[in-house]
Amino acid sequence: MVNRKLHGADMLTDAGRAEWETRNARASALATSPYKSDFPLLAKRPDLAFLDSAATAQRPKVVLDAQKSFYETMNANALRGLYQLSVEATEAINASRAHIARFIGLTGKKDARDIVFCRNTSEALNLLAIAYAPTVLGPGDEVCITIMEHHSNLIPWQQACRLAGAKLVYMYPDEQGIISEEEMRAKIGPRTKIVSCIHVSNVLGVANDVKLMGEIAHEVGATMIVDGAQSVPHFPVDVTDLGCDFFAFSGHKVFGPMGIGVLWGRHELLDAMPPFLTGGEMIDAVTEQTATWAPVPEKFEAGTQDAAGIYALDAALTYVESIGFDAMVAREQALVAQCMRRLGELEFIRLIGPDDPALHHGVVSFNVCTVHPHDVASILDMDNVAIRAGHHCAQPLLAHLGIDSCCRASLAFYNDSSDIDRLVDGLNHVWSMFHG
Ligand code: ALA
Repeated sequence: MVNRKLHGADMLTDAGRAEWETRNARASALATSPYKSDFPLLAKRPDLAFLDSAATAQRPKVVLDAQKSFYETMNANALRGLYQLSVEATEAINASRAHIARFIGLTGKKDARDIVFCRNTSEALNLLAIAYAPTVLGPGDEVCITIMEHHSNLIPWQQACRLAGAKLVYMYPDEQGIISEEEMRAKIGPRTKIVSCIHVSNVLGVANDVKLMGEIAHEVGATMIVDGAQSVPHFPVDVTDLGCDFFAFSGHKVFGPMGIGVLWGRHELLDAMPPFLTGGEMIDAVTEQTATWAPVPEKFEAGTQDAAGIYALDAALTYVESIGFDAMVAREQALVAQCMRRLGELEFIRLIGPDDPALHHGVVSFNVCTVHPHDVASILDMDNVAIRAGHHCAQPLLAHLGIDSCCRASLAFYNDSSDIDRLVDGLNHVWSMFHG
């Protein structure tokens, strides 16, 4: 049997658990992070204020160890062998699939089969736009998305609409970043076949009411797709409660490895869809001129999968569960509130997004008056402060906001007040270089 639990609170002795709980209790103090020591890069770089977790999160040692352990103890091509090592690799993937299903709120015995592995959220959404959309979209139909979509949930729909002769319709938020029910009902109508929405905006930080949006989509017979890349790292997601039809997220933003993404879909929809990529492992039988498909999920998983990455994603979710979303969310929200308050005190900063810090899920976007965001990021980098600057793969949103680019500090539970202090000091440095 595979030794799956190399990590996490469920492995702790009573003494270890008590220490773990004490650490979580200390986490409410923001001055120093009790979690940075779990992350080798952060532990080795105390000089670095890493404020770009929305682009990719750091990975804890247990995740790096799991990836290494896969190659050291069970490396074989999963699903292809009948020998013990390959069986272990296959078991590891199956167990990861089951864990991912539970992590997003699925409790049914067969639910794990509806977890499809892809490279990332972009690939999952492309899978839907390429394999699913043509089965429901025709000329004159509509796909409804929001203006705050990441390009990965926008360009695939532009392409799908172009191919089908369908129209891409946008929902717009109010000044606080909220897409109202009225706006949803105005845009989702009888022609709508697909509604696809970013769960948490990577620029504004707001969480869209995708549950309500899905209800409205279903009223008109449309399919509801949720891009969960920025929500899964920040709060518990239950796809059953959301009532959506498809949900996608990336491993690397939830403290797992790069190159592993997840698409969940309703079984009957996945079952009825044609495959996306074709080739090895996704077939039932092949003749010279024809092929039939393997069942879901293998139908969508052509070629050798990144089994070590999948195993390490499993470890990342175990790590998150061992800390618990209650502790993570409380700490992160307090840090976001502190960051917004501190930036708001700088007269040369213009904050972007809702006024209420509680509506920002890890993301604080801003601009420095008269200074280009790329200059801001480059000067901050001189002070070892890492932020993202640019259009954030959301050009239509930025155009809607009347800007070309902006700066973004994105926080995770492992940050602390010293990171925010460094950001504020760095921004004062930026301002003094231009206006000192
Ligand atoms: N989608 C990632 C971001 O928003 C890369 O930064």
